[in-house]
Amino acid sequence: MRAWRASLLWFDPDADHPDLRFERDGLLVAAPGADGVWRVQAIGAFEALRPRWPQVPVQDERGRLIAPGFIDLHVHYPQTDIIGAPADGLLPWLERYTFPHESRFADPAHAEAVAAFFLDEMRRHGVTTALTFATSHPASVDALLRQAQARGLRWIAGKVLQDRHSPDGVRDETETSLADTEALIARWHGQGRLGYAITPRFAPSCSDAQLRGAGELAARHPDVWIQSHVAENVDEVRWVRELYPHDRSYLAVYERFGLLRRRAVYAHGIYLDDADRARLADSGAAIAVSPTSNLFLGSGFFDYGAARAAGVTLGLASDVGGGMSFSPFATMRAAYTVGRAAVRGDGAAKLGVSLAPEDLWWQHTAGAARALGLQGVVGSLAPGSEADFVVLDPQATPLLARRTAQAASLAEWLFAFIMLADERAVRDVHVAGAPALQHSSNVDAA
Ligand code: GUN
Ligand code: ZN
Repeated sequence: MRAWRASLLWFDPDADHPDLRFERDGLLVAAPGADGVWRVQAIGAFEALRPRWPQVPVQDERGRLIAPGFIDLHVHYPQTDIIGAPADGLLPWLERYTFPHESRFADPAHAEAVAAFFLDEMRRHGVTTALTFATSHPASVDALLRQAQARGLRWIAGKVLQDRHSPDGVRDETETSLADTEALIARWHGQGRLGYAITPRFAPSCSDAQLRGAGELAARHPDVWIQSHVAENVDEVRWVRELYPHDRSYLAVYERFGLLRRRAVYAHGIYLDDADRARLADSGAAIAVSPTSNLFLGSGFFDYGAARAAGVTLGLASDVGGGMSFSPFATMRAAYTVGRAAVRGDGAAKLGVSLAPEDLWWQHTAGAARALGLQGVVGSLAPGSEADFVVLDPQATPLLARRTAQAASLAEWLFAFIMLADERAVRDVHVAGAPALQHSSNVDAA
C-alpha cells in the first residue's frame, strides 16, 4: 500500500456532468489487487485520512496537484509521424499523407517501434487511456496492445476496416477483414486492462457488406467498443450523401448497420443536425470532440451548445495526427476556443459558450470514461477506481508559477493551469497496472 500527500482533484464517477471534488491538503491511498492492478482505497483530507492509515508510507507532493490520468477519446497511433502535415482539408490530407504513411505498417517491426514511441509520448503527456485507431494491418493492433500490456496501461485499439476507396497498401478485403477483427477480439479484448474496438474507418471507405459485418460483430460482442468518424468535413459529408442517397444523414448510415449503441464513439460530429443528436443521445453513442484536428485541417467548429442541449455524451480527443498535439492541455485550450467561436457547423451565427475549467478537465477524464462506459474504472480517482494518475507541478514554468500564484479561486487557478501548462507540468505519471507501480517521471525525483 502507498499514499500521496498533495492537492487532489477528482470527480464523482457516476455524475453525467462535472461534479468536481477538491482537497487542498489531501491524501490519496492506493493498493494493488490480486490482479496486480493498483486501486484507490481512499481519497480526501490529509488530516481526516492519515490516522486511518498510520503505517502506510506517504510520498510528500505538497505544492503539486494529483489528478486522474487523462483519457484520449480518439487518436491514431500510426499518424504519430505525420503530425503537422498541411493539406487543403481532410480528403487531400488522407490521400497525400495518411494512406501512404499507414501502408508502412504492413511491416510489423515498424509498427512495434512506432507503438512504443507513441505510448511513451502519450504517457509523458499524462494520458493513461485512449481509444486508438491502428491501421488496416492486424499486426499493427498486436504491436500496440503488446506494448500497452508491457506498460500496464488500460488501452483500447482496433484494426481499421477500409475495403473500398482506399489505395493499395491500406485497402483490406471484406471477408478477411471481418475474420481478422473477430480473431483480434478473441486475442485482446478483456485481456487484463486491454480492450478491442471495431473500427470502420468512415462510411466512404467501407462497403455495405463490411459495415454490415461490423454491425453483426458489434451485436455479438456488446462490450466491445466501436470507433469511427462522422460528419467531420463538408466535402466528406457531400461524398457520403452521394454514396448513400437513401439514408437520412451520415450518422443514419452507421445506425442502419447496427453501429449506433453504447460504447460506440464517433470522432468530430461537426455537421450533425438535431435529429442526429437525438439519435446519439438515445443510443448512448458518444462524440469524441477533436478541436485541434478540426482547427488544423480546417474542418469546422464543434457546436457545444447544441450537443449539450440534446444530451449527447461527449469527451475530448487529440485525433493525432490530424490533431496537432499529444497534450491534453493543448486539446482543452482548443476546446475552450472552439466553444467561444460564434459560428455553427452550418456557418450560421450563434452565441458561443464559455466552458468552465472543471468541465474541460472532466471531458478529458471522468467524462471521457463515461463515454467509454468505464465510469468508476478510470478517470475519476474515486475509491475503487484504478489508480492511474498524474502529479502536476504549477511551478513548471515561470509564467505558470506566476499566474497560478495570483488565482483568487479554484476555478481561476484551474483555468490558468489549462491555458498555460504543457508536458513540463506533468511531473509524474502513475499507471495502475504497471509492475510495482512503475511510473515515468519527466523530472528525476528530488
Ligand atoms: N476520416 C477517415 N479517416 C480519417 C483520419 O485518419 N483522420 C481524420 N481526422 N478523419 C478521418
Ligand atoms: Zn481520426
